[in-house]
Amino acid sequence: MSAQPSTTTSVPRHIAIIMDGNGRWAKERGLPRTEGHRIGAQSVEEIVEACGELGVEFLTLYAFSSENWKRPKREVDTLMKLLEHFLKSKTPKMMKQNVRLQAIGRLHDLPQSCQDRLHKSIEQTSQNTGLTLILALSYGGREEIIDGIKSLVESVEKGHLDSGMINGDVFSKHLYTRYYPDPDLMIRTSGEMRLSNFLLWQLSYAEFYITEVLWPDFRKPQLIEAIRVYAERERRFGGV
Ligand code: IPE
Ligand code: IPE
Ligand code: MG
Repeated sequence: MSAQPSTTTSVPRHIAIIMDGNGRWAKERGLPRTEGHRIGAQSVEEIVEACGELGVEFLTLYAFSSENWKRPKREVDTLMKLLEHFLKSKTPKMMKQNVRLQAIGRLHDLPQSCQDRLHKSIEQTSQNTGLTLILALSYGGREEIIDGIKSLVESVEKGHLDSGMINGDVFSKHLYTRYYPDPDLMIRTSGEMRLSNFLLWQLSYAEFYITEVLWPDFRKPQLIEAIRVYAERERRFGGV
């Protein structure tokens, strides 16, 4: 399969992270949840830099799920403002660090100013050749699969694809992630043992690393520890 994850190197080619625990981090300190999101953005900055240094090729960050729209409007508004501010203020750093920005999800659901900013940063960094940073925004794994099926059906109806040819590789090419290999390592912070609708198709053979550390406290040493644990795992892909 073209999206086959890497098997031999100790540094994962693609890391996917469920950045969870901002609210709990703030609560522990008697601060508003939004303060957790603000400090969480500093973790993003540090982890992006560390992944670039370590030679990770792809980093997918779950920043806002399809389900997160259910949160109070005030929190959603703050998250969108933080995203816009992050993109605006960090794009020069991404240029310096040779980071190429991408995004997956139902991006048209984001406020217009966020979409504009996002597309500007994507465009500006499009020629960079270092780490590819993929932000999952208004992203849901089930929604992605549904969108993929719609796209497949359209291809069949237009005569571009024979339905008998549909297999895993073909389907992968109709997902938002069609340009990226599947993640090798999935990290979830703050201890929750669930996927929360993240990359349902792509994580089928990823190694999972779940830590109690809350996202605002997850920094370079914690990332290195996750990679160390990953490097000790034996990946079999169904073989012996
Ligand atoms: C993750 O932290 C950030 C987003 C989901 C946007 P949470 O906001 O989910 O923090 P907890 O889980 O309530 O601690
Ligand atoms: C998953 O975290 C989504 C993101 C990190 C963006 P949630 O906090 O939304 O997940 P649940 O509600 O604990 O499953
Ligand atoms: Mg959470």
